[in-house]
Amino acid sequence: MRLDKVIEQDLKTTRKEMKRLFLMKKVLVDGTIELNPQRNVDSQIHEIQVNGKKLQTNHVYYLLNKPAGVVTAKKDSKFQTATELVKEEERPADLYPVGRLDRDTTGLLFLTNNGQLGYDLLQPAAKVIKTYRATINEAVTLEDVKAFEKGIVFNGGVRCQPAYLEIVHSEPDNSEVLLMIKEGKFHQVKKMFLACGKKVTRLTRLAMGPLKLPEDLAEGEYRSLTLAELQQLKSYFR
Ligand code: URA
Repeated sequence: MRLDKVIEQDLKTTRKEMKRLFLMKKVLVDGTIELNPQRNVDSQIHEIQVNGKKLQTNHVYYLLNKPAGVVTAKKDSKFQTATELVKEEERPADLYPVGRLDRDTTGLLFLTNNGQLGYDLLQPAAKVIKTYRATINEAVTLEDVKAFEKGIVFNGGVRCQPAYLEIVHSEPDNSEVLLMIKEGKFHQVKKMFLACGKKVTRLTRLAMGPLKLPEDLAEGEYRSLTLAELQQLKSYFR
């Protein structure tokens, strides 16, 4: 949450008082004077102190194992949405999924109502690596690995950044691969394989930056981030 919003919410500060607090160096984050009112903070991982008083935030952070058939749109008239899998009493109105997964894609989805963090994680400059396991309808070859490493060009001309492709097994009519990409273009994984003339028949996201799909989280289940997981996101709080 933005530091000035936390202060406003907790201390009912007027604009003028807010300006003064920062000017007078009364705002500390983790013991250091903070001059940026827009700095993103969370009291679970930052110590927020104003005029000696500790302030609290109340954001939620969930890891969801998205099942197939569920959409990542905020609202949908036809399909269940990812946020609807969160119990009503644990679902703030502004909860949303960070990044898209197709309806038939399963796996890790990060949900939060810290909009600033979600936005920053999706910025290309953040270079958050997404790891996928994909099943492909035919053999994946070392040529494909090299093409991914060089940067796939979509049918249509759009060029992707270099990606790491690892073949888990490759059969003439069925292969399994691991893929790591830094971008989040629309239908990116499917389009990358289409550019090689191959079809993704199953796709699961295993990781997003430091966040990993927990092995014990069944499809459709979610849980809060542990403090250790939230700490791993600390560098993305700007
Ligand atoms: N790439 C895709 O093609 N689909 C997804 O759901 C995610 C990445």
